[in-house]
Amino acid sequence: MKDDNFLKENNARHLWHPMGAPADSHGTPPKIIKGAEGVKITDIDGHSTVDAVGGLWCVNLGYSNNVVKEAIAKQLYDLPYYSAFAGTSNPPAIEASYAVREFFDADGMTRVFFTSGGSDSVDTALRLSRQYHRLRGEPTRTKFLSLKKGYHGTHFGGASVNGNNRFRINYEPLLPGCFHLPAPYPYRNPFNEADPAQLAQNIAAAMEDEIAFQGANTIAAFIMEPIQGAGGVIVPDASFMRLMREICDRHGILMISDEVITGFGRTGDWSGARHWGVQPDMMTVAKGITSGYFPVGACMVGDKVADVFENDQTGEAGIFHGYTYSAHPVGSAAVVACLAETQRLDTKANAAARGTQLYDGVRKLAEKHDIIGDVRGGHGLMTGIELVSDKAAKTPMDMATMKKVHEATYQAGAMVRLGAHNVLMSPPLTISEAEVNTILSALDAGFSAA
Ligand SMILES: Cc1ncc(COP(=O)(O)O)c(C=O)c1O
Repeated sequence: MKDDNFLKENNARHLWHPMGAPADSHGTPPKIIKGAEGVKITDIDGHSTVDAVGGLWCVNLGYSNNVVKEAIAKQLYDLPYYSAFAGTSNPPAIEASYAVREFFDADGMTRVFFTSGGSDSVDTALRLSRQYHRLRGEPTRTKFLSLKKGYHGTHFGGASVNGNNRFRINYEPLLPGCFHLPAPYPYRNPFNEADPAQLAQNIAAAMEDEIAFQGANTIAAFIMEPIQGAGGVIVPDASFMRLMREICDRHGILMISDEVITGFGRTGDWSGARHWGVQPDMMTVAKGITSGYFPVGACMVGDKVADVFENDQTGEAGIFHGYTYSAHPVGSAAVVACLAETQRLDTKANAAARGTQLYDGVRKLAEKHDIIGDVRGGHGLMTGIELVSDKAAKTPMDMATMKKVHEATYQAGAMVRLGAHNVLMSPPLTISEAEVNTILSALDAGFSAA
């Protein structure tokens, strides 16, 4: 490893970072995170903070889970790679498929297709949903419905169903046939409706209207996050996902629950769909499936979809889709160990308790700091704080102030994430009560610096 001077000198010189402009990284070089322990990270200057981001909504077990690390290390020596394209498999992949199926049994998921991450999983789900309808004899069903403010990754399929224009406009034209409904976002919505339950009804009506306009027989699937994460931690009314499920059923549209963030305990339940009492037709997961220790994702399907593929008589059920690293043996070993640890530690219970503590603490801070326009969360360890420069007008806070808040919070002991004018938090699910209090006091200092 080169010395610190080399690292600082070459920081962002040759590396283009995701989700930022290269020139900005030259002006303000990214923080170099050199080490981590428990739920804390340490930068190159030796400054330690609680990681309220959980890496990127993914390090659910914290940074020190040796069971997962050892499983990865051992598998590297047993079999570092072999292809899982039809014709060959490997022991950890078989074991991981069994573990994932058991984990999501209550969600009705019975088959799994492994990928290398969330974007892969979303594109897999979109593709398989089209193929499902072709196999059933309805090849006209090719369109997708989704929600504004949704985030479904950055492949062309996922970006096309994404509901935030900053992930879209530079890359247009995107996939044709993708249509977006309003987000279940009471703070801002086109109906000017602050009541979450009424807003859910309004969006359901908009969905019925869009389906009638498009023609149900042209729509393959509807994709949604049970709680929208990257879009700002937007928590829908408890009735919302069930309403969407009923509409999908009535019109023969598959429901894809994008659980890349909400899977594996983050909401206080093992899945976001389960949190809302809904069984989707397909689920996409990643992140917490290995606690971020190895890049793995998965697309799961329930019996309704599986039966059509497995009992096909048309000869067209070949899944001509997949990735070199699908069902990677090292990734699969990480999945097996991570799911076992996730269950042993019952991380969902801690996520629920610490999530409530964080949410209540931030709501208290909102009484003190006028720049807090909206606080969202209260369902596990996902909390969003929307900052405004004028509370009455709900004017989004400018980026310079957001960066000031971010830096002051970091210096005071917590790494948080910015998403436009939102402060987003998704700490490891293993976080302690004292560490949540550290986040809250660091935020207090951050908001005071605005
Ligand atoms: C809900 C959701 N879907 C998909 C993705 C894309 O996952 P990845 O970044 O692993 O491709 C993300 C990433 O944050 C996500 O939050």
